[in-house]
Amino acid sequence: MKNYYTGETIDQGVKELAAYMKSSDSIVILTGAGMDTESNIPDFRSEGGWWRKIDPRTVANIDTFAQNYTLFHEFYSMRIKLLQDVLPHAGHFILADFEQKGVIKSIATQNISGLHRMAGSQNVHELHGNIATVRCNSCGQPAKTEDFLHKNNCTSCSATALRPNVVLFGEALPQNVWAQALSDIQRADLLVVIGTSLEVAPVNQLPLQAKGRTVFINKEDSGVHYNFDLTILGKAKEVMEKLKGQL
Ligand code: APR
Repeated sequence: MKNYYTGETIDQGVKELAAYMKSSDSIVILTGAGMDTESNIPDFRSEGGWWRKIDPRTVANIDTFAQNYTLFHEFYSMRIKLLQDVLPHAGHFILADFEQKGVIKSIATQNISGLHRMAGSQNVHELHGNIATVRCNSCGQPAKTEDFLHKNNCTSCSATALRPNVVLFGEALPQNVWAQALSDIQRADLLVVIGTSLEVAPVNQLPLQAKGRTVFINKEDSGVHYNFDLTILGKAKEVMEKLKGQL
């Protein structure tokens, strides 16, 4: 396997990543739940992840929304409350700083936490939406999070159909966001993928669309089938902190 770093060799991997970055003109970052775990948000599929307790595919699903609104509402009320007080960690701030300095072009993320924007990143493609806002699924009007949490009906059309602005299983990704992320990735000469199991489509297809070099930073090796040019098995925050010192 090419350029594969783990444990004590991580520093060498970060050095190579820094060299890649210095020789690249357009760098795009793709993040998943592993980017946020050090902000105390459990991921979905690793040990301690949501997936072990509840299968998101069964509740974060458009059919559950339509057929069992009580369960859907219970699950998303819990998630909204959990995510209400979270804060970005050093890794999010470092990425925001990279953007400000012109080192990276954009971040495409599967995360609905909003932590990249909260840290100051501006060019963020939120492929799965953002849990901070709510809309009516029936008439499309924006609604208040409080109304969702109180299980109120839509104030515009009276339907029992309020939902967070996140993409559910069974739904398409927002087309314009997807198009921008794809275009950035296809034009980039370096794609850095951070903290994702690469199990969920269509986002797990994005690294395959990259035309430049590809890097994978993750706690465990879920990228084994992707033939990344460089793999660093480590934690997102730690690797970002080391990287900052090299650039
Ligand atoms: N640093 C790096 N990697 C980490 C860290 C960390 N601190 N913590 C966890 N990871 C890794 C895990 O080892 C795992 O491989 O991040 C990965 C997270 O994978 P998933 O839990 O599957 O999350 P993700 O790939 O983002 O899931 C995709 O599935 O249900 C959904 O819609 C949800 O957007 C989500 C999508």
